[in-house]
Amino acid sequence: MTVNSIGVVGAGQMGNGIAHVMALAGFNVVLNDISEDALKRAIDLIERNMDRQVSREKITQSERDQAMARIITTQDLPQVAQTDLIIEAATEQEVIKQKIFDSLLPHLSDNTILTSNTSSISITRLASRTDRPEKFMGFHFMNPVPVMQLVELIRGIATDKETYETCLGVVEKLGKTAASAEDFPAFIVNRILMPMINEAVYTLYEGVGNVNSIDQSMKLGANHPMGPLELADFIGLDTCLAIMNVLHDGLADTKYRPCPLLTKYVEAGWLGRKTQRGFYDYRGETPVPTR
Ligand code: CAA
Repeated sequence: MTVNSIGVVGAGQMGNGIAHVMALAGFNVVLNDISEDALKRAIDLIERNMDRQVSREKITQSERDQAMARIITTQDLPQVAQTDLIIEAATEQEVIKQKIFDSLLPHLSDNTILTSNTSSISITRLASRTDRPEKFMGFHFMNPVPVMQLVELIRGIATDKETYETCLGVVEKLGKTAASAEDFPAFIVNRILMPMINEAVYTLYEGVGNVNSIDQSMKLGANHPMGPLELADFIGLDTCLAIMNVLHDGLADTKYRPCPLLTKYVEAGWLGRKTQRGFYDYRGETPVPTR
């Protein structure tokens, strides 16, 4: 199947990055959000990120202008339903994702492929509640989307070969690399990454180190580009907690229990960069550790 247009549902952290790379790769993009403000912020951010790519000579001004012209925004979900491939990138809550797919279903054309950018929720379960489990997949980008090379492609139990190959073709057109993962809790990247982040929070909770020493240890001692606590703030502590809960519930193993300190930060509304406070406080000029 040929894909020309992409629908992106959710214009947050992941949605705007997905719209950015899809438009640059030549796809027509319909970007949807329930909030007009979120759509405006997403377009501003995409423009700024593309301008940065122009100034670093990664893309030309004309490529930037053509890509921006390929993105349209809408608060009207049925408008997204007319695209060839839909990527749901709403918040990591199954009931919200479910509602989005329910609202899309009556408006879809027969061939539209449905995908979710979920970082951990069962693709098979999401697919089973639609009218097209064979045309449903996980299409999981990493943050920041324009920079990270990997896309995880997750097949549900019913996903057919054509759907997988079509999605693989889209990833190739983006110039990114696909990793094929089976549909088990948190797939590959988060199955490995989140327990590491959770363990870093335990290390903080038990007083083995403080925010600075833990992040510095992993940056300088393991050559990670960001320390685990800095990375948790970057991803969002609510997302990290949601993924740990999916691992804990789905695999029923106590080794995945979320650290109580992670839960406490989320309960405080200290969700990381997006709320300006998490393991670091971002309200000043430079981030200050909160512990
Ligand atoms: N859009 C476009 N370009 C961007 C960008 C964005 N949002 N953010 C950064 N960049 C570009 C910069 O312009 C810069 O480009 P050049 O190489 O051309 O100069 C390059 O990326 C590096 O950026 P910086 O110099 O500003 O900063 P840095 O060297 O510290 O790198 C980083 C920033 C790429 C984010 C790096 O710190 C990093 O790789 N961190 C780890 C990120 C990571 O692990 N992500 C995965 C999270 S897990 C996930 O996403 C899955 C999930 O489900 C939770």
